[in-house]
Amino acid sequence: MQLTTPQPARHPNPTTKASALAYAIFDRPDLKKAEAYLIDFGLRTVSNDGQLLLMRGTGPAPYCYVVQKADKPRFVGLGLEVENRADLDVLSKLAGASAIETITWPGGGERVRLTDPSGFRVDAIFGRSSAPELPHRLPLPLNSVDAPARVNGTQRPPFAPPDVIRLGHVALELADYQATSAWYTQHFGFIPSDVQALPDGSPAVAFMRLDRGDRPTDHHTLALAQTFAPALNHISFELVDPDAVGIGGRLMRDRGWKHAWGIGRHLLGSQIFDYWDDPWGDKHEHYCDGDLFTADQPTGVHPASRAGMAQWGQVMPASFTRPKPSLSNVRALIHGLRASPDVNLNKLRTLMRLFG
Ligand SMILES: [Fe+2]
Repeated sequence: MQLTTPQPARHPNPTTKASALAYAIFDRPDLKKAEAYLIDFGLRTVSNDGQLLLMRGTGPAPYCYVVQKADKPRFVGLGLEVENRADLDVLSKLAGASAIETITWPGGGERVRLTDPSGFRVDAIFGRSSAPELPHRLPLPLNSVDAPARVNGTQRPPFAPPDVIRLGHVALELADYQATSAWYTQHFGFIPSDVQALPDGSPAVAFMRLDRGDRPTDHHTLALAQTFAPALNHISFELVDPDAVGIGGRLMRDRGWKHAWGIGRHLLGSQIFDYWDDPWGDKHEHYCDGDLFTADQPTGVHPASRAGMAQWGQVMPASFTRPKPSLSNVRALIHGLRASPDVNLNKLRTLMRLFG
């Protein structure tokens, strides 16, 4: 299958090449509630002064989840690390970019604040120091059929929030798919790993990875899905093994949080996954065992389908992608149809048929 649109595609000479996903930023009206959910989910509190909540995993990032106190809940955007200070200089000259600013959060560093063509904030950051890693449970030794690892030993992982190691990826829904995809490939060097396409060859979902040359990197750090309005689809965090995903799920259910989809194993990216809604309905994914690609792996193009989102487990529920019926969504739909060259009724009907 072939794409019939220019994007997503590698850029031959990107402005910079992002080296890591640093953090996600949310606005929330209740930081205590946000913190309670995220602790059950497996993140650790760095600080919460009532105006700003910073959370981290056990990995070296000093924080990976930023919550700002605000009246309205909203996904604000994300932070991407770049490899050189000169990258910040170049990015600060792009239209709408901020000057280079000092970051006052733990680990310091500097940033340039940008806005992508869909309106999401993107902080390019450089020089943030690592924090000492926190201990995490080691992967469980499995009794494989050919090489048992335990004799006279049981499997008893602790029943507690799973150790979140790090922020893995962010998945965005877009109206202006072509312009937004082009922005990330041009300015941060993202490479499409796999694309799900509609029958007419236009992209429905692209899974994009960082360009780290011959260093293996996650199959996707950013996923971009065509819809009629910009929104967060989900945010995803890496756990140590499948038992951590399973125990995390049992614990989230016991604590009364709302399940969204799982457990299953994705097809594109191969992660074992489980999704949980946060108190504002934003999906948070636990995952382990994702694919790692180097830059030379070619882009795969596949027919879009709900069934093609997982190899086993529950097929992706329609609720996973279906917008909530609300006046603001009706307004967004009308706006998307009027304003975005990538949105039309035929495409939305096809998306509904394949995913709805
Ligand atoms: Fe995901």
